[in-house]
Amino acid sequence: MFRLGPLELQSNLFLSPLAGYTNLPFRLVIREVGGVDLCTTDLVNARSLLEENRKALKLIETNERDRPLAVQLFGSVPEEMHDAAVDLERRGIASVDINMGCPVRKVCRVGGGSAMMTEHAKTAALVKGMVEAVKIPVTAKMRLGWDDDNITAPDLARALEDAGVAAIFVHGRTREQGFSGTVNLAGIRKVVAAVKHIPIIGNGDVTTPEAAKMMFDETGCAGVSVGRGAFYNPWIFQQTRHLLATGELQPEPRFEERIRVMCRHLDLMVEVFTEEHGCRMFRKVAPWYSKRFGPVNEFNKKVVAISSRAEFHDVLERYLRWRQQFCDGDGHLLPRYAPPPMVASFMQDPASAQRSSIPVPRGPVEVW
Ligand SMILES: Cc1cc2nc3c(=O)[nH]c(=O)nc-3n(C[C@H](O)[C@H](O)[C@H](O)COP(=O)(O)O)c2cc1C
Repeated sequence: MFRLGPLELQSNLFLSPLAGYTNLPFRLVIREVGGVDLCTTDLVNARSLLEENRKALKLIETNERDRPLAVQLFGSVPEEMHDAAVDLERRGIASVDINMGCPVRKVCRVGGGSAMMTEHAKTAALVKGMVEAVKIPVTAKMRLGWDDDNITAPDLARALEDAGVAAIFVHGRTREQGFSGTVNLAGIRKVVAAVKHIPIIGNGDVTTPEAAKMMFDETGCAGVSVGRGAFYNPWIFQQTRHLLATGELQPEPRFEERIRVMCRHLDLMVEVFTEEHGCRMFRKVAPWYSKRFGPVNEFNKKVVAISSRAEFHDVLERYLRWRQQFCDGDGHLLPRYAPPPMVASFMQDPASAQRSSIPVPRGPVEVW
């Protein structure tokens, strides 16, 4: 269905790395809901991995239900990136992705992330060293360029294709843009046109199956990668597969299904991170699910204080009772309380796109 170098994938839809979120529990939830095949970790510092730093090893924690898995590396020292790729192959990781899109100062200052987009020859040499060291595919993830005056992604993509990358993921914004403005589909199309044969995977603001389809149609990309859209809607991958295969748009998942998947997510967080830590981490995850619940104040206020699974279920029970006042006799949310449909930035006029942009989660990576 989708060839990534030597890897045969069952889907041309991908989960984008989201530092702080794309951990093992989230990936397992996404895989259980379906429609995706290759998922990726958060970005991992190559040197920390080689030093077997505890946090780096936790970031690449995986299990047999989390296959195939890509690990995203960042770093700018060729020897470290080379050795880290070899180490990941030895650990049975299916694919290595290189971060060239991160705009965070800490990462760029040392020549990693978006800074790699400014020095093509150096970046291509680093990539070539990695490609030659492993049999697994090496991919790169980039933005369109540093700023509007430096749209370097097409040239860099061509150089990286020559260096042997198996695919390129492109977030259709510049580093300067951060997360503002709309995703530039024409920019992604230029990257598609620049390479000879490797797949280009488009990314940015895909929150609905229609938006994924539009990204395919308008850019000619071979795959689409979804980040924040998968927070709101872990069903987006299977809904998109369905839309692409049949032309039919499935209804949004029912409220009960959203609750079921949210609870499953918490169980997996507890399994992987222990009860207290897993629940604390879930404080920032639950509000993403609840964005599509309708009236939700009561839930959001309380869920940010949970420390145990019992506390979470108590908050949920109380919320379900409170929510009844917004429902009809059968327990379905009255249409006037339903959240408005989601529309991707590039499917709106620019003014409203800016007003209704997807929130960027709070945390140390808020300038991603
Ligand atoms: C909280 C957060 C963390 C991110 N972490 C990473 C990361 O570790 N590596 C990376 O290449 N991109 C990272 N990104 C960028 C996303 O992978 C993606 O390119 C971007 O969010 C646009 O796609 P989306 O609109 O589907 O989320 C991050 C974005 C956010 C919001």
